Amino acid sequence: MDEVDVIAEVTETYRPKTGGIHPREAAQHHAMFAAPVLGDLLAEARTHGIEPADIDAVAFSQGPGLGACLRTVATASRMMALSLDVPLVGVNHCIAHIEVGRWKTPASDPVVLYVSGANSQVLAYRAGRYRVFGETLDIGVGNALDKFARNAGLKHPGGPKVEAYARDATGYVEMPYVVKGMDFSFSGLSTAASDALAKASIEDVCYSFQEHVFAMLVEVTERALAHTGKDEVLLAGGVGANMRLREMLDIMCDDRGASFYVPERRFMGDNGSMIAYLGLLMFNAGITIPIESSHVNPNFRPDDVDVTWITDER
Ligand code: FE2
Repeated sequence: MDEVDVIAEVTETYRPKTGGIHPREAAQHHAMFAAPVLGDLLAEARTHGIEPADIDAVAFSQGPGLGACLRTVATASRMMALSLDVPLVGVNHCIAHIEVGRWKTPASDPVVLYVSGANSQVLAYRAGRYRVFGETLDIGVGNALDKFARNAGLKHPGGPKVEAYARDATGYVEMPYVVKGMDFSFSGLSTAASDALAKASIEDVCYSFQEHVFAMLVEVTERALAHTGKDEVLLAGGVGANMRLREMLDIMCDDRGASFYVPERRFMGDNGSMIAYLGLLMFNAGITIPIESSHVNPNFRPDDVDVTWITDER
């Protein structure tokens, strides 16, 4: 592939006024901003000499995610593909995180730790697919942090506030450490952290909660490295902004002689460029989707996707 670049990116993020994300409100937000965002995007592209007629394909996230939000954006994407008379490419959101990380860091064949509000997975490429080596059995890490933060009276998003409190801790509180095989579970741990607030300071609880959650993630990532024999770790997803998680992964990788990669922040959390970039890889590999079969799948698994754009033996 010749030079690839992000020409224009326009973002409009839904932020709940109170509590966590309300799926219907989030979908209404998407519906309200789809047209203005596309308008601004095309206007920005035009300042770089790119006209709508230059667009070869339209990529959108087919899943996983909140059904109402996925459907809203899928509708806008179909409309755009039809009006431009170009093919549609339906991408898997998790794989988009991986591919943008492979593009934006030197990682080529990594074990990936993908941690966000709704998702927590350890993935790696093997024999034509991104395999899920371990994943959450209930909620994502971000949701576990948010749920606890809400109980502690902290505003959404809770992760950065928990991280800030944890830096001032002076003690450690024992909590459940829930790794089952290669999978992990966070909802009981989140409840235990909320309960611990009755007998320990918020600083100590935030610190202990982080240490438990991140140690679980790092343990499974390390075992995936050992199992696959790979020597790179790539961190993806919004929770990857947490410096303590990065530090723990860095120490583990150092001990194993593996390289640890983190993309710059704008390509780490959810972003339009990652969807467009995976769309480009798939489009170049000849993968497009007819409008009539472009339904979304809120439970779309990364290991359901044939990764035909990777052609070298691994
Ligand atoms: Fe994500």
